[in-house]
Amino acid sequence: MALSLKSLMLLLATLCIMQALAAEAETCPDCFIRSRAAHYPNSDEQGTDSGACGFGSFGATINGGDVSAASGLYRNGLGCGACYQVRCLNSYYCSDRGATVVITDSGWGPNTDFILSRRAFGRMAQTTDAAAALLAHGVVDVEYRRVSCSYPYKNITIKIDEKSDYPHYLGFVIWYQQGKKDITAVQLCETKNFACKLLDRSHGAVWTTTSPPSGPLSLRMFFSDEDGDDESWVVPVNNIPQDWKAGETYDTGVQVN
Ligand SMILES: *[C@@H]1O[C@H](CO)[C@@H](O)[C@H](O)[C@H]1NC(C)=O
Repeated sequence: MALSLKSLMLLLATLCIMQALAAEAETCPDCFIRSRAAHYPNSDEQGTDSGACGFGSFGATINGGDVSAASGLYRNGLGCGACYQVRCLNSYYCSDRGATVVITDSGWGPNTDFILSRRAFGRMAQTTDAAAALLAHGVVDVEYRRVSCSYPYKNITIKIDEKSDYPHYLGFVIWYQQGKKDITAVQLCETKNFACKLLDRSHGAVWTTTSPPSGPLSLRMFFSDEDGDDESWVVPVNNIPQDWKAGETYDTGVQVN
């Protein structure tokens, strides 16, 4: 009897510790998480024009080409445009700061969360020599955390998808979203009668609708943090013009932090 009471106490103590650890993980959104990172196998320094997010060439060159494909963090496209600080762990080669990358693609490697552009991979190193050595490793242990994206002197910008077909089918991606929230819903509203239509996330970061509303269009974006505590609609000052065109970009006139 005494023994079972003792083991019960031990069990309770273990549960308490586990709960405390779980609580610590929850209250520690800025903590680094251990993982691994690889780099794109091709010789391009930057990312890829055909990334799963649908960003096009923006997805290769944004942030100076410090971009990454993500596996789990891709989150079915919701993770597109999110920024992460990634630093490798070998103190001989790696800097404390590491690289800050934008997710623009989906990709899976050997137990990796990130497949970085070669440029971003090299930027985790202290020197160019160390970068060459690091790239030769191919896959390295890293730690990462989500950070705010920053695009100085840029407003959130709408890039109409090349596949759009005025006025029947409208698709677009959202460029230069600062901060560390996700855009979880997008609406287009007619400016005359405020009839609104909720768009679909067709794939990656691409929002689409068949039969878009007509006239100048007011965009509404729903921003949400990862645990859904801080949510709000953002309505840009600029409308998407009535005669929107495939391939065109439109400055929304707003930015978020
Ligand atoms: C951002 O939008 C504001 C209007 O809201 C505009 O005055 C400013 O020039 C825009 N910035 C850029 C870099 O386009």
